[in-house]
Amino acid sequence: MNLRLARMDDCAALEQLIGLSVRLLQAPFYSMAQMEAALGPIFGVDRQLIADGTYYVAETEGKMAGCGGWSQRASLFGGDRARTGPDPLLDPASDPARVRAFFIHPDQARRGIGKTILAACESAIIEAGFSRIELVATLAGEAFYLSRGYRVLKRYELPMPGRLTLPVVWMAKQMTTGNYLF
Ligand SMILES: CC(C)(COP(=O)(O)OP(=O)(O)OC[C@H]1O[C@@H](n2cnc3c(N)ncnc32)[C@H](O)[C@@H]1OP(=O)(O)O)[C@@H](O)C(=O)NCCC(=O)NCCS
Repeated sequence: MNLRLARMDDCAALEQLIGLSVRLLQAPFYSMAQMEAALGPIFGVDRQLIADGTYYVAETEGKMAGCGGWSQRASLFGGDRARTGPDPLLDPASDPARVRAFFIHPDQARRGIGKTILAACESAIIEAGFSRIELVATLAGEAFYLSRGYRVLKRYELPMPGRLTLPVVWMAKQMTTGNYLF
Protein backbone atom coordinates (compact mmCIF):
# COMPACT_ATOMS: atom_id res chain seq x y z
CA MET A 1 0.00 0.00 0.00
CA ASN A 2 1.23 3.48 -0.89
CA LEU A 3 0.18 6.46 1.24
CA ARG A 4 0.48 9.95 -0.23
CA LEU A 5 -0.99 13.42 0.23
CA ALA A 6 -4.14 14.07 -1.81
CA ARG A 7 -3.94 16.52 -4.73
CA MET A 8 -6.63 18.80 -6.13
CA ASP A 9 -6.74 16.68 -9.29
CA ASP A 10 -7.78 13.69 -7.15
CA CYS A 11 -11.16 15.29 -6.33
CA ALA A 12 -13.27 13.51 -8.97
CA ALA A 13 -11.81 10.11 -8.04
CA LEU A 14 -12.25 10.90 -4.33
CA GLU A 15 -15.95 11.75 -4.81
CA GLN A 16 -16.40 8.44 -6.63
CA LEU A 17 -14.62 6.50 -3.86
CA ILE A 18 -16.68 8.26 -1.16
CA GLY A 19 -19.93 7.32 -2.94
CA LEU A 20 -18.92 3.65 -3.17
CA SER A 21 -17.69 3.51 0.43
CA VAL A 22 -20.84 5.12 1.82
CA ARG A 23 -23.36 3.12 -0.24
CA LEU A 24 -21.78 -0.25 0.57
CA LEU A 25 -20.10 0.03 3.97
CA GLN A 26 -22.74 2.23 5.62
CA ALA A 27 -25.72 0.24 4.30
CA PRO A 28 -26.07 -1.86 7.50
CA PHE A 29 -26.35 1.34 9.57
CA TYR A 30 -28.28 3.93 7.52
CA SER A 31 -31.22 3.91 5.12
CA MET A 32 -30.74 4.60 1.41
CA ALA A 33 -32.48 7.97 1.90
CA GLN A 34 -30.12 8.92 4.74
CA MET A 35 -27.01 7.98 2.72
CA GLU A 36 -28.15 9.83 -0.41
CA ALA A 37 -29.05 12.97 1.57
CA ALA A 38 -25.68 12.94 3.37
CA LEU A 39 -23.57 12.39 0.23
CA GLY A 40 -22.21 15.82 -0.72
CA PRO A 41 -22.89 18.05 2.28
CA ILE A 42 -21.82 15.56 4.99
CA PHE A 43 -19.87 12.89 3.07
CA GLY A 44 -17.80 14.72 0.49
CA VAL A 45 -14.39 16.15 -0.32
CA ASP A 46 -13.18 19.11 1.74
CA ARG A 47 -10.70 20.89 -0.54
CA GLN A 48 -9.43 22.92 2.40
CA LEU A 49 -7.80 19.78 3.83
CA ILE A 50 -6.13 19.07 0.49
CA ALA A 51 -4.90 22.68 0.32
CA ASP A 52 -3.57 22.39 3.91
CA GLY A 53 -1.69 19.16 3.07
CA THR A 54 -3.60 17.19 5.72
CA TYR A 55 -5.59 14.76 3.55
CA TYR A 56 -4.21 11.38 2.47
CA VAL A 57 -4.89 8.91 -0.31
CA ALA A 58 -4.01 5.23 0.06
CA GLU A 59 -3.36 3.30 -3.15
CA THR A 60 -3.01 -0.40 -3.80
CA GLU A 61 -1.75 -1.57 -7.19
CA GLY A 62 -2.07 2.00 -8.48
CA LYS A 63 -5.78 2.26 -7.57
CA MET A 64 -7.33 4.51 -4.91
CA ALA A 65 -8.14 2.22 -1.95
CA GLY A 66 -9.00 4.75 0.74
CA CYS A 67 -8.75 8.30 1.96
CA GLY A 68 -8.81 10.18 5.22
CA GLY A 69 -7.21 13.08 6.97
CA TRP A 70 -7.01 15.52 9.83
CA SER A 71 -7.66 19.19 10.25
CA GLN A 72 -6.27 22.14 12.13
CA ARG A 73 -9.52 24.01 11.39
CA ALA A 74 -12.84 24.38 13.19
CA SER A 75 -15.17 22.24 11.03
CA LEU A 76 -15.79 18.85 12.62
CA PHE A 77 -17.12 17.15 9.47
CA GLY A 78 -18.57 17.74 6.04
CA GLY A 79 -17.60 18.47 2.46
CA ASP A 80 -16.71 22.01 1.43
CA ARG A 81 -19.89 22.43 -0.66
CA ALA A 82 -21.98 23.23 2.41
CA ARG A 83 -19.49 25.81 3.73
CA THR A 84 -20.09 29.48 2.97
CA GLY A 85 -17.04 31.19 4.54
CA PRO A 86 -13.47 30.37 5.53
CA ASP A 87 -12.83 27.59 8.04
CA PRO A 88 -10.99 29.25 10.98
CA LEU A 89 -7.67 27.85 12.20
CA LEU A 90 -7.57 26.19 15.64
CA ASP A 91 -5.01 26.85 18.38
CA PRO A 92 -3.01 23.66 19.13
CA ALA A 93 -2.41 24.91 22.70
CA SER A 94 -6.10 24.98 23.60
CA ASP A 95 -8.15 23.31 20.84
CA PRO A 96 -8.47 19.67 19.76
CA ALA A 97 -7.38 18.74 16.22
CA ARG A 98 -10.00 17.04 14.05
CA VAL A 99 -9.83 13.66 12.31
CA ARG A 100 -11.87 13.93 9.13
CA ALA A 101 -13.48 12.05 6.28
CA PHE A 102 -12.21 8.46 6.31
CA PHE A 103 -13.58 6.39 3.43
CA ILE A 104 -12.24 2.99 2.40
CA HIS A 105 -13.09 1.23 -0.87
CA PRO A 106 -15.50 -1.64 -0.05
CA ASP A 107 -13.15 -4.16 -1.71
CA GLN A 108 -10.36 -3.03 0.60
CA ALA A 109 -12.22 -2.88 3.94
CA ARG A 110 -10.74 -4.59 7.04
CA ARG A 111 -7.25 -4.77 5.55
CA GLY A 112 -5.70 -2.22 7.87
CA ILE A 113 -5.86 0.72 5.45
CA GLY A 114 -7.97 2.91 7.73
CA LYS A 115 -5.65 2.10 10.63
CA THR A 116 -2.58 3.08 8.57
CA ILE A 117 -4.06 6.42 7.44
CA LEU A 118 -5.16 7.19 11.02
CA ALA A 119 -1.66 6.49 12.37
CA ALA A 120 -0.21 8.95 9.81
CA CYS A 121 -2.80 11.56 10.86
CA GLU A 122 -2.07 11.11 14.57
CA SER A 123 1.69 11.53 14.01
CA ALA A 124 1.11 14.72 12.01
CA ILE A 125 -1.33 16.01 14.66
CA ILE A 126 1.24 15.52 17.43
CA GLU A 127 3.91 17.15 15.28
CA ALA A 128 1.61 20.16 14.80
CA GLY A 129 1.47 20.56 18.60
CA PHE A 130 -2.06 19.30 19.39
CA SER A 131 -2.60 17.03 22.39
CA ARG A 132 -6.26 16.13 21.87
CA ILE A 133 -8.26 14.88 18.88
CA GLU A 134 -12.02 15.07 18.34
CA LEU A 135 -14.12 13.69 15.51
CA VAL A 136 -17.67 13.00 14.49
CA ALA A 137 -17.98 9.33 13.55
CA THR A 138 -20.67 7.62 11.55
CA LEU A 139 -22.26 4.56 13.12
CA ALA A 140 -20.23 2.60 10.54
CA GLY A 141 -16.99 4.17 11.83
CA GLU A 142 -17.64 3.93 15.57
CA ALA A 143 -16.11 0.44 16.08
CA PHE A 144 -13.06 1.46 14.03
CA TYR A 145 -12.35 4.54 16.18
CA LEU A 146 -13.09 2.65 19.43
CA SER A 147 -10.46 0.11 18.37
CA ARG A 148 -7.93 2.97 17.95
CA GLY A 149 -8.42 4.34 21.48
CA TYR A 150 -11.15 6.95 20.89
CA ARG A 151 -13.94 7.32 23.44
CA VAL A 152 -17.57 8.31 22.93
CA LEU A 153 -18.42 11.83 24.18
CA LYS A 154 -21.96 12.10 22.91
CA ARG A 155 -24.45 10.57 20.48
CA TYR A 156 -26.61 12.94 18.48
CA GLU A 157 -28.44 13.36 15.16
CA LEU A 158 -27.39 15.69 12.36
CA PRO A 159 -30.38 17.35 10.70
CA MET A 160 -30.65 16.87 6.92
CA PRO A 161 -33.14 18.04 4.29
CA GLY A 162 -36.52 16.30 4.01
CA ARG A 163 -36.88 15.90 7.79
CA LEU A 164 -34.16 13.24 7.71
CA THR A 165 -31.48 12.97 10.38
CA LEU A 166 -28.17 11.15 10.55
CA PRO A 167 -27.26 9.55 13.90
CA VAL A 168 -23.57 10.17 14.62
CA VAL A 169 -21.07 9.79 17.46
CA TRP A 170 -18.84 12.59 18.75
CA MET A 171 -15.58 10.95 19.89
CA ALA A 172 -12.26 12.06 21.37
CA LYS A 173 -8.76 10.85 22.16
CA GLN A 174 -6.28 12.49 24.52
CA MET A 175 -2.66 12.19 23.43
CA THR A 176 0.79 13.22 24.52
CA THR A 177 3.94 12.76 22.44
CA GLY A 178 4.97 9.11 22.42
CA ASN A 179 2.50 8.28 25.17
CA TYR A 180 -1.20 7.94 24.44
CA LEU A 181 -3.46 8.73 27.38
CA PHE A 182 -6.93 7.22 27.09
C1 LIG B 1 -14.69 2.85 9.14
C2 LIG B 1 -13.67 2.56 8.04
C3 LIG B 1 -12.93 3.85 7.66
C4 LIG B 1 -12.65 1.54 8.60
O1 LIG B 1 -11.60 1.35 7.65
P1 LIG B 1 -10.86 -0.07 7.44
O2 LIG B 1 -9.68 0.14 6.58
O3 LIG B 1 -11.85 -1.07 7.00
O4 LIG B 1 -10.41 -0.40 8.94
P2 LIG B 1 -9.13 -1.27 9.39
O5 LIG B 1 -9.01 -2.48 8.53
O6 LIG B 1 -7.93 -0.39 9.52
O7 LIG B 1 -9.64 -1.73 10.85
C5 LIG B 1 -8.89 -1.51 12.04
C6 LIG B 1 -9.71 -2.06 13.19
O8 LIG B 1 -10.92 -1.29 13.34
C7 LIG B 1 -11.99 -2.15 13.74
N1 LIG B 1 -13.01 -2.18 12.68
C8 LIG B 1 -12.91 -1.67 11.42
N2 LIG B 1 -14.06 -1.84 10.75
C9 LIG B 1 -14.90 -2.47 11.59
C10 LIG B 1 -16.24 -2.96 11.46
N3 LIG B 1 -16.94 -2.78 10.34
N4 LIG B 1 -16.78 -3.60 12.52
C11 LIG B 1 -16.11 -3.77 13.67
N5 LIG B 1 -14.82 -3.35 13.85
C12 LIG B 1 -14.25 -2.70 12.83
C13 LIG B 1 -11.38 -3.54 13.94
O9 LIG B 1 -10.93 -3.63 15.28
C14 LIG B 1 -10.20 -3.49 12.98
O10 LIG B 1 -9.17 -4.37 13.31
P3 LIG B 1 -9.28 -5.93 12.81
O11 LIG B 1 -9.69 -5.91 11.36
O12 LIG B 1 -7.89 -6.45 13.03
O13 LIG B 1 -10.31 -6.56 13.67
C15 LIG B 1 -14.35 1.91 6.79
O14 LIG B 1 -15.15 0.84 7.20
C16 LIG B 1 -15.23 2.88 5.99
O15 LIG B 1 -14.73 3.55 5.09
N6 LIG B 1 -16.55 2.92 6.28
C17 LIG B 1 -17.53 3.67 5.45
C18 LIG B 1 -17.31 5.16 5.50
C19 LIG B 1 -17.44 5.66 6.90
O16 LIG B 1 -18.49 5.54 7.54
N7 LIG B 1 -16.35 6.24 7.39
C20 LIG B 1 -16.26 6.73 8.74
C21 LIG B 1 -16.41 8.18 8.70
S1 LIG B 1 -16.41 8.75 10.38
